[in-house]
Amino acid sequence: MAAEHAALQPALNEALQDVLASAAFIQGPAVGQFATELGEYLGGTYVVPCANGTDALTLALMSLELPAGAEVIVPAFTYVATLEAAALLGLRPVLADVHPDTFNLDPAAVEAALTPRTGAIVAVHLFGQCADLAALRTLAARHGVALIEDNAQALGATFQFSADETAFAGAVGTVGTTSFFPSKNLGCLGDGGALLTCNADRAALLRQLANHGQSRKYHHQRIGLNSRLDTLQAALLRVKLRQLPINTAARQAVAAGYDAALATVPGLHIPARDARSTHVFHQYTIRLDEPRRRDDLQNHLRRCGVPTMIYYPLPVHAQPAYAYLGYRAGQFPVAERLCETVLSLPIHPLLLAEQVAYVGAILQQALA
Ligand SMILES: Cc1ncc(COP(=O)(O)O)c(C=O)c1O
Repeated sequence: MAAEHAALQPALNEALQDVLASAAFIQGPAVGQFATELGEYLGGTYVVPCANGTDALTLALMSLELPAGAEVIVPAFTYVATLEAAALLGLRPVLADVHPDTFNLDPAAVEAALTPRTGAIVAVHLFGQCADLAALRTLAARHGVALIEDNAQALGATFQFSADETAFAGAVGTVGTTSFFPSKNLGCLGDGGALLTCNADRAALLRQLANHGQSRKYHHQRIGLNSRLDTLQAALLRVKLRQLPINTAARQAVAAGYDAALATVPGLHIPARDARSTHVFHQYTIRLDEPRRRDDLQNHLRRCGVPTMIYYPLPVHAQPAYAYLGYRAGQFPVAERLCETVLSLPIHPLLLAEQVAYVGAILQQALA
């Protein structure tokens, strides 16, 4: 990340100086400019900046005005924020298992989880690839429930519905959310997030909710949040957004390098691709056949100087905070198995082909 920023340093410094000079630290002009530019990049979507990706999920759900206790279907394999937002609002997270190959929501499991109390489905585009938006959009429409897209990890990915319909991740559902946490594909230098929608009225409502429920200062229509993207972060994000297409292509090239090195390694599965979605490779996550192999391999890679991560080591229903939901071990077998067998390899736009080859060679040798 430091190397990535080094190349942008003059432009980042200039952005910082401009904000310092303006002293417009809250809701300064860069916030609106960034929202417009990101919206243009996403094919004309309304972008409502907010304080972080978790707030974005909270605000998206608040905008649905669901009754207390309404059910929100979320993947059993995701970052906790997806559930946390629903739980904090007094809504009930209902888990649905995921596909073993794409790691994303299994529409059949979602269908089985739908009840008359369901208010929303939250699709997470995990690791950079779209969930099955065609099936989920159809399900949501058929049952009259909202589709929220947690797009914290797949900003810039697209999904092809048909020969003449392609859409950006986050711009399909009722509301999309994203995060600018520093390690995200578009990361700021602190916390940040945004809401995405194609509906002007929804955008206005989200803007109001993110700003204490007011559209006019000191006139509060709704109970809202104080959830604003700092001007400074917006100014820095404007610089980094210009680099996003280049960085995405670089991530995809790294992924292609890993694919070539790992495709035939026994007991190892490279990330499966849904042919309808592009993949922006927030993570390059392999799957091992055996849990023990995964842990041995992670230790071996660490000894060779290769950092890896396990996203996520524990499924959400096994987290003590969510014990109240009453799920048992064994209820979400795919998510549970993934927690034991996935491993995310190093990936960032500046990773060199030699470094990819080095990691590939270690894995080839270890699993031969
Ligand atoms: C899938 C997913 N949802 C939500 C979030 C929450 O974003 P933030 O950390 O900006 O609150 C993250 C990132 O951490 C994430 O990966």
